[in-house]
Amino acid sequence: MQCAISPLAEPRGLSIRPKLYAKGRTELSFDYLQVTREFYEDHAEEYARKTAGMFDQEWLDKFASLVRPNGRILDVGCASGRDSGWFVSNGFQVEGIDVSPALIERAKKAVPNATFSVMDLANLQYPPESFDGIWCSCVLLHIPRAEAPSVVASLARILRSSGILYILVKEGKSEGLEQDARYGNATKFSSYFKVDELHEMIEAADLKIRLISDMHEKVDDYRASERIFALAQKPDAQANG
Ligand SMILES: C[S@@+](CC[C@H](N)C(=O)[O-])C[C@H]1O[C@@H](n2cnc3c(N)ncnc32)[C@H](O)[C@@H]1O
Repeated sequence: MQCAISPLAEPRGLSIRPKLYAKGRTELSFDYLQVTREFYEDHAEEYARKTAGMFDQEWLDKFASLVRPNGRILDVGCASGRDSGWFVSNGFQVEGIDVSPALIERAKKAVPNATFSVMDLANLQYPPESFDGIWCSCVLLHIPRAEAPSVVASLARILRSSGILYILVKEGKSEGLEQDARYGNATKFSSYFKVDELHEMIEAADLKIRLISDMHEKVDDYRASERIFALAQKPDAQANG
């Protein structure tokens, strides 16, 4: 299948050591967060415009049906607030976080009834058991593979008992710098995961998988990658004694 994103073979001067489940931080010779922030800061308006109507409606509906009505939802990597807005209009209390200040400014304007903050997913500033639902759509793909399990575990920690976590990743086994043809070949950092890896990360975080999709192929020219979707639930603390 033709992919809109073409990985660079070996970016000169940049070394990447992909090792899933390595202990500690990944050894990248560059600041992946900075690469990500620059990509979205430079393309904030274009990104917001291009993705405005791209709801993964089937998964929004499934997620919303599992989260406690009127519950508190964290939209991780909320970008310009498209999904946050949908959650607000469906009666949820919504907080959104993103590393891009320009996208957070857009989200604040677009969804005044939600709360938005610039925050790194790998350094969450919330106490344990804060949210009834966490929506993490297309964000782990900007986290090094070796760090993804600890990020999923930290999302699980801030979920309340019986809370629901949604994760969407792109399918594959690689990570590295890519040029994105949809944005003038701008460079970004991307990671890909296999379905069994996503499965393992969720279970290692002591969450129960409610649903995990097979690969979904190209939706449209923009969403041309194969994607994997998962819904997981934190066990009910009382039921476990
Ligand atoms: C591919 S977009 C997905 C946006 C939206 N969730 C969606 O599904 O359309 C990835 C978003 O995650 C944000 N992001 C990337 N790395 C992040 C991190 N470490 N912490 C918080 N947000 C991050 C980016 O700034 C961007 O807005």
